[in-house]
Amino acid sequence: MTPPSRQGDRSGRRDGMPENLGPLSAPSITRAIAISIIGRTVIYYPVLTSTMDEARKQARAGLPEGTVVIAEKQTAGRGRLKRTWFAPEGNIALSVVLYPRLADLPSLIMLSSLAVLHSIQTVTGIRGRIKWPNDVLVNGKKVCGILIETDVRRQKVNYAIVGIGINVNLSPADFPEIESSAASLSKELGKDVSRLGLVRALLAEMDRLYLTLKAGGSLYEEWRDNLDTLGKHVRATSVDGVQEGIAESADRDCSLCLRTTDGKLVRIMSGDVTLSL
Ligand code: BTN
Repeated sequence: MTPPSRQGDRSGRRDGMPENLGPLSAPSITRAIAISIIGRTVIYYPVLTSTMDEARKQARAGLPEGTVVIAEKQTAGRGRLKRTWFAPEGNIALSVVLYPRLADLPSLIMLSSLAVLHSIQTVTGIRGRIKWPNDVLVNGKKVCGILIETDVRRQKVNYAIVGIGINVNLSPADFPEIESSAASLSKELGKDVSRLGLVRALLAEMDRLYLTLKAGGSLYEEWRDNLDTLGKHVRATSVDGVQEGIAESADRDCSLCLRTTDGKLVRIMSGDVTLSL
């Protein structure tokens, strides 16, 4: 594994490339950033199999809450529902180590998707939408995927890892495996986007929303109001199989309520939805 850099390394600039478009670094991410928890410690790797694995190691070793593991490139990135996550260079792939209360676990879904929406809008002006439960879409295509892995024993959360992958500077057309479903910020804008600016905005926003949660605030209404899925006819795949119907509402526990074609209301706790025609 290529050795990591932590904040404190001297330079975030390489090869004369402008810092905001070149490789990331821990010091450039944390420089003069006003945050309390998320992003206090950033560990950067040029290459990792998956930031989830490294973050889990850090969590088990008891590293401080809010530690961020970020990689320029992942060779075995993973997604929800045992899918692989395609993560070439030019994108953002990071995982955040958290030690939340059990009651706050569902809110991590809301926190992460809202933080991505807000930071994308701040940095690029692009307004995304959330596909239940926490994909971020731009013009109907996926620009960000979020994976949350937790270790909960006897009603106690040992740790939660929030993994975020954003398609930033990438041409989906160059990658047949994602071409039809993926969006990228550079494609939408017609020019490259500062990954450094976006990572910094994302961590600042996650930190702000995490403090809101810790203070007893709710992210539910804003998450619900940004769900692209509600009111649409969808096919939901979950542990209970495949169900089709109109997505009627989403609850505070992040479940989705589906009105099936025979009029029944079913609750999907976790899974994935696609639009059905
Ligand atoms: C999904 O949409 O299925 C979730 C994708 C999550 C991808 C991110 S990239 C950073 C972190 N490391 C991983 O291996 N996965 C998550």
